[in-house]
Amino acid sequence: MTIDYAARRARLAPALGLTDEILLVGAGQPIPRPELSEQHLAYIAHQEYYYLTGHAEAPGGIVTYDAKTRSWNSFVPEVTEEQRVWDGTEQLPGEGLGKFAAWLAARQGRRIVMLGTPLPGVAADAARTAEVREALKHARRAKEPGELATLCRGAQATAEGYAAVQPFLRPGVSERRMQIELEAGFFRGGADETGYHSIVGVGAQCAVFHGSPSARRVAQEGDFILIDAGGQVDRYVTDVTRTYVAGKPSDFQRDFYQVVLNAFRRACARCRPGAEWKDIHLAAAVDLMAGLVSLGIMQGNAESLVERDAHTLFFPHGIGHMVGLGVRDAGGLEPGRTKDPRPCLRSLRMDLILRPGYVVTVEPGLYFIPALLNDPQRREKYRDCLNWDVAGRHLGLGANRKT
Ligand code: GLY
Ligand code: MN
Repeated sequence: MTIDYAARRARLAPALGLTDEILLVGAGQPIPRPELSEQHLAYIAHQEYYYLTGHAEAPGGIVTYDAKTRSWNSFVPEVTEEQRVWDGTEQLPGEGLGKFAAWLAARQGRRIVMLGTPLPGVAADAARTAEVREALKHARRAKEPGELATLCRGAQATAEGYAAVQPFLRPGVSERRMQIELEAGFFRGGADETGYHSIVGVGAQCAVFHGSPSARRVAQEGDFILIDAGGQVDRYVTDVTRTYVAGKPSDFQRDFYQVVLNAFRRACARCRPGAEWKDIHLAAAVDLMAGLVSLGIMQGNAESLVERDAHTLFFPHGIGHMVGLGVRDAGGLEPGRTKDPRPCLRSLRMDLILRPGYVVTVEPGLYFIPALLNDPQRREKYRDCLNWDVAGRHLGLGANRKT
């Protein structure tokens, strides 16, 4: 489904709350590689600019809105012959960037709101910019049908990658090999990029949230393998995490996995319009604690454990986040809210009420993280409710996570 960006901009303008300002949204410039070669780091236009224009590659591009005349303009880079020859770049529709200076000069003295990548030498009203950025974020939280269709294509590509890696989840296979098979599947399935750096870990590496795959191999049957990755289509990202056991799982692994799977399913069922995201997070934390109590790893009442923040020993991150344009899309606070100060919500990336069209990840997880479980302060604080002997036996086990 193609998206009509002019219609989107027209629809969006009233939601931004502008009165007499001018709005500038910069795409950003390519960043040269540090060694100052002719090459640049992979370029992506700022997501706010992309959302308003659909131009993924428009170095220096600026989209503007004049709130007095209620008119949008798009200034795009003028493609040179050299770019046509060397890069195959085609001219984008819009006015040449060379005309932007005169457009701005004609509005001298007006208050400027600047989203996207800031334009050098242009002074913006910081407070209004922050307000308008929040308004834009909120306006784009509910995904349009075209965005949902793109996300579905990404999800299909991601499923193809996960199917492709299944035969490689066995002893002797390296994280790198699994990454290669997984990503090849994403691309075969129609992805045009990976959504983020794929995370593939074996054994203790499963408990490193953002670990990078390496030549590390699955050492033996019974090792945990964690994959956290997704394909990207037209800048829309899928984020899926799965935990596997190489070969036959032990009874403990099966039970442990079941605790997370149960929390995952219950959390998904709670994702309904009107639900508070923080309630979904806390309910999942209670489910995970109840599971750990049943496994003899924790002791006490699950709700009380969460009130004491004890779940963060094993579940130190939030239940999930919005996905869309980027792996962490448009999170933050419900309009008019301030950050909830409760420590048990510290790790949440968003405090929102779910609405139709919102797309979120649901990723409860349990991890045996030495840096947390061996920390003397935590050991003291939770000495009455954590069975350290059982936890210690499983240190090095990694994680069980589901998205
Ligand atoms: N799945 C990667 C992340 O959300 O951090
Ligand atoms: Mn995630």
